[in-house]
Amino acid sequence: MNVIYLYCRPGFENECAAEIQEKAGWNDIYGFIKLKKNEGLVEFHVYEQSQVDVLIQKLPLTRLIFARQWFAALGEPLELPEYNRVEAIAEQLGDDFRYEDLRVETLDTNDGKALSKFSRKLSVPLRQHLRKSGILAEKEQGEQGRGATNLHALFFSGQLVQLGYSYVANSSNLPMGIPRLKFPSKAPSRSTLKLDEAFLYFIPREEWDTRLTSGLNAVDLGSAPGGWTYQLVRRGMMVKAVDNGPMADSLMDTGQVKHYQQDGFKFRPSKKNNYWLVCDMIENSTRVARLMASWIVDGDCKEAMFNLKLQPGKARYQQVMKNLQQIKDTMSEHDIWYEMYAKHLYYDREEVTVHVRVLGNK
Ligand SMILES: C[S@@+](CC[C@H](N)C(=O)[O-])C[C@H]1O[C@@H](n2cnc3c(N)ncnc32)[C@H](O)[C@@H]1O
Repeated sequence: MNVIYLYCRPGFENECAAEIQEKAGWNDIYGFIKLKKNEGLVEFHVYEQSQVDVLIQKLPLTRLIFARQWFAALGEPLELPEYNRVEAIAEQLGDDFRYEDLRVETLDTNDGKALSKFSRKLSVPLRQHLRKSGILAEKEQGEQGRGATNLHALFFSGQLVQLGYSYVANSSNLPMGIPRLKFPSKAPSRSTLKLDEAFLYFIPREEWDTRLTSGLNAVDLGSAPGGWTYQLVRRGMMVKAVDNGPMADSLMDTGQVKHYQQDGFKFRPSKKNNYWLVCDMIENSTRVARLMASWIVDGDCKEAMFNLKLQPGKARYQQVMKNLQQIKDTMSEHDIWYEMYAKHLYYDREEVTVHVRVLGNK
């Protein structure tokens, strides 16, 4: 089979499709798209079969903005009998390959959610069966050959499943690429989950002690009522919160927050000791991208996490790429050495989250 399946937020299939076609093309890999609107799934049919494996190994998933997770198809969708479904799946898999882990998945739609109880139930005997037969097994140290892989079983219904594989090193370690975060009862808005997810996604846990730690200074532009500020405060940071709207008293009472009722496009900290800039202003994405780049160029932050609002009805993938290019151009004009990643995170809706980190000057 020559198909790569990509999961995205339902409603963003066209963006996900435009992106995989363009970025595969940069690697001289071409194909066509099949998708159904609002299913959160895109099929990329690669013209040359041998290129499927190359693409899912070589193109970093972290470089795809709209895809949450992906896998390469193993065969056509498999019709399952009413009984002995586990055996039917094992038979289709054969015993040529071993997989490190099993991902039983459904679509991120209402039908998919309804099906997830069934698929979770089936995953228990399926996992047991595949372990027993050696199809699921941890890679032994020093084992040669291809990198460790996950086995995916995407259930479209109780009778139809698509099997596939992804590389452990180049896939999301979350089921369907979706984190399930708990809303903290003390946070003043649900937006808090966006920054929580962004920190989890972009900042490696082993670096939290230096990059997300107490004592760091942060600025939050468009901060009211304080969901993002809450994430900074709970990590012990001192926050300058900029918004004309009111901040939650619970945050102001911590003594870690100073509220500035000012325009976020005009505010700047008076000293050069600020580490984080976060920004959730609902404003034109070109303006926001320009603002973020200028803070970095001026040395007013070391890391920035911000949203670029997407314009409904527009070519949203192209819009994001244009905004990212704006930032790249500014960085290279000023010889700044940096890293930048962007993702349409699970808790994002009509926006993508961008992370920029200054690594130094060239
Ligand atoms: C989505 S809300 C932010 C929610 C906040 N991050 C939270 O978690 O509670 C967007 C905020 O941006 C603010 N905003 C929009 N334009 C702004 C500007 N030019 N300067 C300052 N704040 C602005 C709005 O007042 C609004 O409170």
